[in-house]
Amino acid sequence: MNKSGLEYDVYIFDLDGTLTESEPGIINSVQYALEKMNAPVSDRQLLRPFVGPPLVYSFVNTLHMTEDEAMRTVRFFQERYRRAGYLENSVYTGIPNMLRKLKALGAHLAVATAKPKEFAEKVLAAFGLDGYFDIVAAPMDEDEAKSKERLVRKVLAVESGRAVMVGDRDLDILAAKACGIDAIGALYGYGTREELESAGPVAICETVGELTKLLTGSDEVMPGAFISLEGCDGCGKSTQGKMLAQWLETRGYEVVRTREPGGCDVAERVREILLSPDTKGMTGICEAYLFAAARSQHVREVIKPAVERGAVVVCDRFVHSSIAYQGAGRGLGIDAVREINAIAVDGCLPDVAIWLDVDPALALERRFANNNPDRIERENAGFMNVVREGYAKIAAMDGTLTRVDASGEPEEVFQRVVGALKGIL
Ligand code: TYD
Repeated sequence: MNKSGLEYDVYIFDLDGTLTESEPGIINSVQYALEKMNAPVSDRQLLRPFVGPPLVYSFVNTLHMTEDEAMRTVRFFQERYRRAGYLENSVYTGIPNMLRKLKALGAHLAVATAKPKEFAEKVLAAFGLDGYFDIVAAPMDEDEAKSKERLVRKVLAVESGRAVMVGDRDLDILAAKACGIDAIGALYGYGTREELESAGPVAICETVGELTKLLTGSDEVMPGAFISLEGCDGCGKSTQGKMLAQWLETRGYEVVRTREPGGCDVAERVREILLSPDTKGMTGICEAYLFAAARSQHVREVIKPAVERGAVVVCDRFVHSSIAYQGAGRGLGIDAVREINAIAVDGCLPDVAIWLDVDPALALERRFANNNPDRIERENAGFMNVVREGYAKIAAMDGTLTRVDASGEPEEVFQRVVGALKGIL
């Protein structure tokens, strides 16, 4: 064991089938290439063994092509993969947390993949993994792609200390052994248990959780993150929330999508009282306490436990809604509403609160598309302007709220939302 309690100093990961679930993009692109070669294969199951090992090798050995045919097929593959295939990919859930933990313990991390360097780097960047690795060993030409051992040696040439290789195929394990280092099999990838066992790894892990425990030596998890989405009614929160959750999931995060008021049984019941158009004569102060009451349950039952187990919580509205709607909108004052919520939130505040800011007139138009407005949505445009001013005040005051321009197409707005996340993941 080294000084931070880790068994190894250098952790070398295979990419496809170990860090990322790359099957869809690879199989779609292999199918495209085979069609171009007039040798279509429609059964995707038959093409599964193509994920991971060098493609030339698979075309020659599995489909009995000549080297020359295999090279031509690879070029068709690359044409589609470069355009679309590399994005038809996702990171296995739990991988970012595992890498984060290893990094925090001082490990050096590397990738050794048969994927051409250009693609390996594109995939790592597109899925937010690029920042973790000290070196990415990937082939610069088709010749280099044929030998995983050469790629592992590239890592070992620059990284010193005790190294281990983690991979999902026998070729990964055999390459590590040829280099004289230990290897661990990732059974959640594309290889079978028999395949991995026959290559002789020091261990086989069935899940990312098991692998994390083995590599880091403990069950302890690093806390996840808490993101809230804020804004006037009709600002596009739900659309952005959905897009954000999906984006995070493809990057390997466990996502808990929730909302306020609500998010758990007790709070959903309070929501009914708060939003029912039949609830008449509720004072602003009663409203503020009910929102805070629902929040206190939601924080303890859903948000805190999720963040503690390493998940990313994406919540539609949180305490900033109370400050803007009750503090500004109902005129209770920002400080009073903060105070009412202090015990409710129990120190659990968003790592980033994103205020989707749109012109209330535009939001109003979006709101009219909703045929069944709730009690608060029935407020007039003047109320919404005051709420917006409330958000603007908080954003200017203390940096706990990040303004994002929410005008334009959902995809454009989403790019801004992602920009506002910088640093928290
Ligand atoms: P929401 O569920 O976001 O409505 P929709 O799904 O239609 O966008 O929120 C319900 C309403 O409750 C909304 O008008 C904002 C209001 N609200 C407050 O006034 N204070 C609060 O603390 C919260 C969480 C919401």
